[in-house]
Amino acid sequence: MGWNSWNKFASRIDDAAVRTMADAMVASGMSKLGYVYINIDDTWEGGRDAAGNLIPNKKFPDMKALADYVHSKGLKIGIYSSPGPKTCAGYEGSFGHEVQDANTFAAWGIDYLKYDLCTAMTIYQSTQEDEQGLYQKMGDALQKTNRPIIYSLCQYGQADVWKWGAKTGGNLWRTTGDIRDDWASMDRIGFGQLAIASFARIGHWNDPDMLEIGNGGMNTDEYRTHMSLWSMLSAPLIAGNDLRNMTDDTKSILMNADIIAVDQDPAAKPVQVLSEQGKIETLWRQMKDGAVVIGIFNRGDAAANGTVAWSDVKLGDAGQKLQVRDLWKHQAVSTVGDRYTATVPPHGVEMLKVSVAEGK
Ligand code: GLA
Repeated sequence: MGWNSWNKFASRIDDAAVRTMADAMVASGMSKLGYVYINIDDTWEGGRDAAGNLIPNKKFPDMKALADYVHSKGLKIGIYSSPGPKTCAGYEGSFGHEVQDANTFAAWGIDYLKYDLCTAMTIYQSTQEDEQGLYQKMGDALQKTNRPIIYSLCQYGQADVWKWGAKTGGNLWRTTGDIRDDWASMDRIGFGQLAIASFARIGHWNDPDMLEIGNGGMNTDEYRTHMSLWSMLSAPLIAGNDLRNMTDDTKSILMNADIIAVDQDPAAKPVQVLSEQGKIETLWRQMKDGAVVIGIFNRGDAAANGTVAWSDVKLGDAGQKLQVRDLWKHQAVSTVGDRYTATVPPHGVEMLKVSVAEGK
């Protein structure tokens, strides 16, 4: 869980913005909820010095000092590079300097590297053999630094990366092309992940890209769906908005502790489809504590009803009394009767946590 500069700032990111974002992650209360990484994406690179060391450009006068500052807030810092000669935005990449760059990142105190294929596609083939090899090269280099550095593979889900990403040392791997801050993009990416959900496991995650919550292109229901869906997928929660001026709505979505607990559930079981009723798609996932979380998603443009039969949710012994909580309304849901119908707004969701009631 953390924050990344790209979705909101693209090339308009600099040292001062990163520092104030770290401040905001703490001041907003996000860090207490588990958001810890402050990740600098593309456009920080300045080229190489005479010894071939990768250096930052003038937006980032002193990376080590910046890392120290982020660490002083109790947070961790991430950076970005490419296995190609140039990054996607045309800045210096790590091709031919993999070991040297890994050592530079470790010396600065970097805790996370996003390694983005970009121009490596002009050198290597987009086959598993080539891509696994180039990601292994940086994975080995990071390992040899002896600094724990989260390794984030970004090659847009080519060559079934979910089958081999972990072998290269990858802790997460992008499974799709870039997300955009609109419903169509988020819906397509989010619901497109179900078939590969079982490839995610502790420490090695499918990454359906960073969050757009708070960036303005979707409404509150759509952003709740974004947060709920990513959490049902156990996806990395990397905020991509400006943390320094969040509306109450944005905070209530990014900082919903009940939904975050779904995302971070230590059992990390894969999400499953419970039913499809017209535009309503109902997903469920079993939690470590034995409870079941159900997401009743409305992918349609009009309000619609979604029904769950409690008997479909295999929980405890038949006939046991259930307790149900709505994780967005933060209130109990009646379990009278053998089924429950939610009226879900267009592009919205109802998230329910179902557990066996205590006592009789
Ligand atoms: C690619 C990645 C994005 C971002 C940009 C930066 O498009 O997929 O997430 O890192 O490059 O140039």
